[in-house]
Amino acid sequence: MKLKYFSHSAFQIITNSGKIILIDPFLDGNPTSVVKSKDVSADYIILTHAHGDHIGDSFSIAKRCDSLFICVNELANYCANKGFKAHNMHIGGAHNFDFGRVKFTIAHHGSMTPDNQYAGEPSGVVLSIDGKNIYHTGDTGLFYDMKLIGEMNSLDYMLLPIGDNFTMGITDAVKAVELANPKVAIPMHYNTFDVIKSDPDEFKKKVESIGKKCIVMNFGQEIDL
Ligand code: NI
Ligand code: MN
Repeated sequence: MKLKYFSHSAFQIITNSGKIILIDPFLDGNPTSVVKSKDVSADYIILTHAHGDHIGDSFSIAKRCDSLFICVNELANYCANKGFKAHNMHIGGAHNFDFGRVKFTIAHHGSMTPDNQYAGEPSGVVLSIDGKNIYHTGDTGLFYDMKLIGEMNSLDYMLLPIGDNFTMGITDAVKAVELANPKVAIPMHYNTFDVIKSDPDEFKKKVESIGKKCIVMNFGQEIDL
């Protein structure tokens, strides 16, 4: 399986069987993304919440690729009302897709759409794909139940925000890694805009100081999981 980081909270997973999954694909309006939406395709698009920097280019990609949206019920309905295919889920629920399992978790944040529609609760997701568990926290503040999420899922990778202001900053994100206890932490949601400037190398040092591993992915970098 391959994991590509576009920057911000936008990732692409290509499974061993070749399925392409996008998470929060914010590309064309994203000053740090080196990839444009026209160069990306998706079988599935997972949205953690409805903010513009997470819905991003979902609709243009889904229109071109006939992608299936996977998100919480209210946001899935918002996508379906625009004519897209959607699989409605909700927090605490898991479902097996042909690429693997998706389970939605809580996130402490908001989730209005860019056109001010209610889109339900924000979320994180635990993806179980090709024998690995990947926790994308979405936008969230620190919460103690990350410990429970880690205990219930044995996390290989945790993708978590460090940009502060809208989400956890470095100090809280290090605590989140300590609580969820993944094998590897990967920082996200930083340096896209001035207000979320943060130093991923400082985060990496602090994660390593508590005995955990951290990979700082460059914007546009792809790694094997
Ligand atoms: Ni947000
Ligand atoms: Mn955000």
